[in-house]
Amino acid sequence: MIANIDKLIIEFDKALRTLAATPASARATPGTALAEAQLTDADKRHAAALMRVNHCGEVCAQALYQGQALSSDDAAVTQALALAAREETEHLAWTAQRVAELGGRLSLLNPLWYAGALVLGYTAGKFGTRWNLGFLAETERQVEAHLEGHLERLAREDAKTRAIIEQMKRDESAHARTAYSLGAAELPAPVKHAMRLPALVMTQASYWV
Ligand SMILES: [Fe+2]
Ligand SMILES: [Fe+2]
Repeated sequence: MIANIDKLIIEFDKALRTLAATPASARATPGTALAEAQLTDADKRHAAALMRVNHCGEVCAQALYQGQALSSDDAAVTQALALAAREETEHLAWTAQRVAELGGRLSLLNPLWYAGALVLGYTAGKFGTRWNLGFLAETERQVEAHLEGHLERLAREDAKTRAIIEQMKRDESAHARTAYSLGAAELPAPVKHAMRLPALVMTQASYWV
């Protein structure tokens, strides 16, 4: 009983830190040494909105990993999740910093996305190790593709924002590879397809709110 209460407090603390605290990053923010480009107000607003979407995605990644780790009893999986979650915390820090630099603000709906992703991750974990890892790998691949889309939509000269997205893309790709190396199952196509819907709702809404 006490162990369960302890676990609950730890998880609640993680949620609070993701949603309310300023995350810290062990690695320096990519592109720190690059000069700030002369962007138009419209380009700046657009870049801030895209980075708000990415920040929101990272909030969801925290909740997904947390949910998956909670319902998984495989030590190798929970260890891999904890390691990836550490890098996602860095992504959280980098995106929050860039949104602020561009004069934007973070999504007001973050607590809502966090709760939804936590339930999704917990559910995935209940399906057992191979499917849990399969869900993780597919999420990472979809995020990678989504980040590639952002690189196409960003102003060419915005090197600072691009550097962050490019590093995140490399990290997400590595997370997917780790999941496959640990035995991730390839999800059925309809499941992959279904996963795109909540992601689409989140990315569209957080661009504006
Ligand atoms: Fe990430
Ligand atoms: Fe990731």
